[in-house]
Amino acid sequence: MPAENQEIQDQPWLDPDAEPFIQIKGVTKQFGDFVAVSSVDLEIFKGELFCLLGGSGCGKSTLLRMLAGFETPTAGSIFIDGVEMGEVPPYERPVNMMFQSYALFPHMDVEKNVAYGLKRDGIDKEEIRLRVAEMLEMVELTDFRKRKPHQLSGGQRQRVALARALVKQPKVLLLDEPLAALDKRLRERTQFELMNIQDRLGVTFVVVTHDQEEAMTLSTRIAVMDVGKFVQIGTPTEIYEYPDNRMVADFIGSINMFEGRVTENGADHIRVRSAEADSEFFIDRGLSIKEGTKVWVAVRPEKIRVSKSSPDNTDENWLRGKVEEIGYLGSLSTYRVRLENGKIVDVTVSNQIRPKDGRHVVYWEDEVYLNWDAGSPVVLTK
Ligand SMILES: Nc1ncnc2c1ncn2[C@@H]1O[C@H](COP(=O)(O)OP(=O)(O)OP(=O)(O)O)[C@@H](O)[C@H]1O
Ligand SMILES: [Mg+2]
Repeated sequence: MPAENQEIQDQPWLDPDAEPFIQIKGVTKQFGDFVAVSSVDLEIFKGELFCLLGGSGCGKSTLLRMLAGFETPTAGSIFIDGVEMGEVPPYERPVNMMFQSYALFPHMDVEKNVAYGLKRDGIDKEEIRLRVAEMLEMVELTDFRKRKPHQLSGGQRQRVALARALVKQPKVLLLDEPLAALDKRLRERTQFELMNIQDRLGVTFVVVTHDQEEAMTLSTRIAVMDVGKFVQIGTPTEIYEYPDNRMVADFIGSINMFEGRVTENGADHIRVRSAEADSEFFIDRGLSIKEGTKVWVAVRPEKIRVSKSSPDNTDENWLRGKVEEIGYLGSLSTYRVRLENGKIVDVTVSNQIRPKDGRHVVYWEDEVYLNWDAGSPVVLTK
């Protein structure tokens, strides 16, 4: 297959002719006067692992519950697989939902909880046995299959809920914070498992999370939500490297922001003077931002180099400061550097070289120079 076709196949949202599998059109949800979801539009394609990401209370669960049919939109419409879902009850939708609060049957053991939906659908006994066993194996609960939910830890209960949702092989699986109670190792493993299952079964996943790392790892695309609205929709790379605004830039990972004004707008570059950084920044791409406009030059901590000697072949994109804090994380070190005017800049350095005698090259109170490539910052106008 030509590379271009492969790319379109992997990213159907780039194909203007592709039919979305889920369409959300102008959907609003009000609880009394309170607007939980505010006129959102979204298209999700078959086989996507789509994440709804945002802080607590921004409307993620509400949107998911409308897809599942547990809430009715106040306005707008939802189509799944070409069918308007307006009057379709939850159990007739081609979706299955894993709730934020698991909702396991307390009187049934793990095996019966997972088998429940299949049994209700009248699936053959032997097939149920096989599918349940395979699922329990996958979520590492085979040894716990005879336990009741109250005899399990929070993470184990969550895995039962996950197995129960997956075992029915729905066309769309809606997952509300599926991995929140798992420890780091299991979480990472389960993330990969989720991606594998999704790849294998071609199920479309819509996952709600407030964990940005999880969203970055899992997703084909992410919708970042804030107070009932989408603030940006894009691939993890787009969201991380090209945030549209300060809210997204700040919510995803950490970022240093320098307020300033555009002093020069060239065809292939712009310059920004920042009083806050007491410096001028050069960005090596043309942006249609008028001179004099207030902007924020945003640079990710890992894109900044730190050194003890001044960078020689450049008079732009560098700052001087003093190391105030060091966080040693093993694979990485983080430095908080205070500029002369008091502004703090965060820098992350990968510890590629083992420190000699346990001593790091850069130390507390050291005077350091920070600099970055002219292509590294994003320039934000809002
Ligand atoms: N049944 C309801 N009646 C009134 N308000 C509600 C109802 N359900 C949700 N809300 C409100 O709507 C907003 C969005 O809730 P939602 O559960 O969608 O948030 P969320 O993004 O899932 O948050 P979290 O990350 O904390 O789970 C919240 O302010 C919540 O209080
Ligand atoms: Mg929620």
